[in-house]
Amino acid sequence: MSDLDDPTGNPRDRILVTGARGNIGSRVAAVLAAAGHAVRVSGRDLAGVTVPEGAEAVPLDLTDPSGAEAALDGVSAVFLYPTFGDISGFLNAAVKAGVGHAVLLSSPAAYDPVEHAGPIGEAHRAIEGAVRDSGLSHTVLYPSWLGSNVFRDWGEQIRAGAVSVAFPEWRINPIHLDDVAEVAADLLTRDRFRGRSLVITGPESLSQREVVAAVSAELGTPIDLVELTREQALAARPDWFPEAMFDSLLGVAANLGTTPATINNNVERVLGRPPRTLAQWLKDERAQFQR
Ligand SMILES: NC(=O)c1ccc[n+]([C@@H]2O[C@H](COP(=O)([O-])OP(=O)(O)OC[C@H]3O[C@@H](n4cnc5c(N)ncnc54)[C@H](OP(=O)(O)O)[C@@H]3O)[C@@H](O)[C@H]2O)c1
Repeated sequence: MSDLDDPTGNPRDRILVTGARGNIGSRVAAVLAAAGHAVRVSGRDLAGVTVPEGAEAVPLDLTDPSGAEAALDGVSAVFLYPTFGDISGFLNAAVKAGVGHAVLLSSPAAYDPVEHAGPIGEAHRAIEGAVRDSGLSHTVLYPSWLGSNVFRDWGEQIRAGAVSVAFPEWRINPIHLDDVAEVAADLLTRDRFRGRSLVITGPESLSQREVVAAVSAELGTPIDLVELTREQALAARPDWFPEAMFDSLLGVAANLGTTPATINNNVERVLGRPPRTLAQWLKDERAQFQR
């Protein structure tokens, strides 16, 4: 019997994983399906969604309640992606459908002393408020700096051999996305931490400079680090990143200086083993550097 098995031995209900195209949602669905749970994945456009063997897929926009009833039919638990927008219709439908529990992915920006009043914190707090107000039983999951940011922020630059970054001494706490997914799966399937929030981190506080050095070590090639001013970084902002949010992140980095990132043992408390390291993440995802 694995950690994710239903300890009551009852027939399992279906678990709905929203955001299933995403870095985290796709892994949550895979972990649940591999452990034998009945899984339904959803996305606004199913074209980019990988459906694990044995799982089913439904189209769903969390801000459009018209698809909610079908998506929630027979569902006992929901992995909820923090969609910016009004998801109250979906939440009301979840309560009506008798969903027993939701795990809401959120961001430490929602409670962080520096970030909580900024746009990232505000947007996540709004979703947390909506879930709380719905009356749905839930756990808020706060992963630390996602390992996928390496590829999101620096993928192309790494391939070109030079990474430009503002505040290279800013300390972050990279977490392996399989750890995020395994913790989320545990919270969805076991009656622990319900009505609570759970902050999970990777095992190390590392500067951005050290993260780039770790990538260089994994690839066995030198990667230059070019330090940008805040203004230069803002001017080089990727199109997909809203300006106010990007600037807010730069403000956090500026504000924190070389303060160590916080590290906790919650991954180990939930999974019974230490969190994976950044080096492990880079090794596991090495193929992404080739793309
Ligand atoms: N970056 C960090 O260091 C960090 C740290 C802590 C927490 N977080 C949180 O984690 C999130 C990133 O997670 P990720 O990497 O898994 O995201 P991702 O790969 O960017 O995927 C985003 C997912 O959200 C879904 N989505 C967006 N709007 C939706 C809507 N209206 N209805 C239904 N689904 C919708 C998308 O579904 P479609 O397929 O329909 O587009 C997609 O599957 C951030 O947004 C933040 O909230 C990030």
